[in-house]
This record gives sequence, structure tokens and C-alpha cells, in this order.
Amino acid sequence: MSHLSTKHLIGIKDITKSDIELILQTASTFKEVINRPIKKVPTLRDMTIANLFFENSTRTRTSFELAQKRLSADIVNFTSSSSSVKKGETLLDTVNNILAMKVDMVVMRHPSPGAPNFLANHINANILNAGDGTHEHPTQALLDAYSMQEKLGDLKGKNILILGDIMHSRVALSNIYCLSKLGANVKLCGPPTLIPKHITELGVSVEYNIQKALEWCDVANVLRIQLERQNIKLFPSIREYSLYFGVNKKRLETLKRPIIIMHPGPINRGVELTSDVADSEHSIILDQVENGVAVRMACMYLLAGKA
Ligand code: CP
Repeated sequence: MSHLSTKHLIGIKDITKSDIELILQTASTFKEVINRPIKKVPTLRDMTIANLFFENSTRTRTSFELAQKRLSADIVNFTSSSSSVKKGETLLDTVNNILAMKVDMVVMRHPSPGAPNFLANHINANILNAGDGTHEHPTQALLDAYSMQEKLGDLKGKNILILGDIMHSRVALSNIYCLSKLGANVKLCGPPTLIPKHITELGVSVEYNIQKALEWCDVANVLRIQLERQNIKLFPSIREYSLYFGVNKKRLETLKRPIIIMHPGPINRGVELTSDVADSEHSIILDQVENGVAVRMACMYLLAGKA
């Protein structure tokens, strides 16, 4: 199969295992392209893509923009903080005005879960979700899966731990859907207050003891504590979190075998991950960032129907 089953990439929940495999295979081709001396291909030169960011981003925004430039697309960048949203303009009016300028594809990050679904129901362009509140971050999960596959091969039967603030993490939810569809075993670990109550219904297991969880896994994908999304105090202090759930060298040295360390960024160094682990030979955090460009090129190429 060389076509996606969808015209939008809103969540991993909505796409098939074949879609995921097609995106990851296509990303391999683009990874080869971006490592050539001439990194640019003319593939999307007839397309205009709008990057609409209603929430802060470093990696996702830069990565999408670079991916679009590598594919020769024309780009419009929009940041809500410097836009007429500040004067009360609605999401739909904002997007319709941008589309009136003949935009073919929209990449959107928004603090409200469901904002990209809303857009997909109201406008004609392809929509790519670059993170919607605590809901999904599909391209992050795809680049995470790609990075794991690079190190481990087929993910079927591999043990993947997602550690930290699961409750507020769109990366966790998209990773759960993606890894489960690829046949990996997924375990979650974190303080009970940061693990959603019915999460095991998604086919994952939960372990509250970090040492046991690290002992079990091939990969630990470590997540940031999202204090900005917590209205009430869900654990006593950052110091205590770090003591019970932080990944540090001492903890890893007690394991029987080395594990791969991942983090979607931004890292709170010294909280969920110490620098000696984040910067160690077991960390593939910067590989994730590199792979993000190739994965996003693949997503946009396939959604544009260029396959
Ligand atoms: N991983 C990620 O989404 O990072 P940014 O918030 O910097 O885009």
C-alpha cells in the first residue's frame, strides 16, 4: 500500500498500523535525502503550508518548518501571541482568513484538545496536529517509534516504558496508540496521581516502582512534569518527585543491562532526568530530534497525496 487511509493526521488513534508503517518507511527515504549534501527535493513546490502555533514550541515548530523547506513548499508562519486572536478573533475566522490566501495544508498546535478535529470538520485543507492540549501529538509518537526501530528493529514484543506525567501528556497517549499498533508491550510508571484511572483499558500495564519498571524495559521514554497544565498540586514537591521517579545514573547502573533513554523535550534537567543520563551514550534524545524532520517530511508528502 502506498497511500494513507486518511487526509488528515489528527491522532494516532485514527490511523491504521499500515498507515504507521508507510509513514516510517517513507521517513527512511527522506532521512537519506536530508543527509545528502543537497538536502532539498522539489516534491511539494506546488503547495503552500500554514504553520499555526497557538501554544509555544521549539522542536515541533522548527522541525515542521525545516521539513517543509526540504520539500520546497511555500510556508506561512502564524503565532497567536502576535496575531488578531489577541483582539478576539475566533479560531475558525483566523483559519478561514489564512485559507482565503490559498493555503493547501495546515499544521496546528493548540492548547485545546479537539481543536484540529474542529478544523478538519470545517475546512478543506489537510490538517496535521502538532499537539492539541493533553490529547495527542501524533508526529512525536511517529518519530519516537522511528527512533526506537532504528535501535531495536521491529518493535513487536519489545518492552517500552513511558515514565512520568502520563496524565497531562499528549506524547504519552499518542505513544500508547502507536506502540500498541506496532505490537510493542507498553508499561506506564509515575506517581499514582499522574496516571489516569482507566488507562489500562488501552492495553497497557502500570508499575509504580521505578526500579522494577526500568528493570523490565528495553526503552524508557521519560516525560516532563507539566506543571503548567496542573491546577492542583498532584505530588508534594519537585525534589520528592525526582527522588522517587527521576532517572539518574545510579539507578541505571543497578540494572542488569543497559536501556535506551528517550525524552520528547523540553527536558527539566535534574527533575525527571539528570544531565549525566540525558547526555550519555544510552540517550537517543538528539536522534529523536533529527528523525523528526524526516518523519514530518514523510507525513506531509503522504498527506499531500504525492505517494
Ligand atoms: N517535543 C515537543 O513537542 O517539543 P516542543 O514543545 O518544543 O515542540
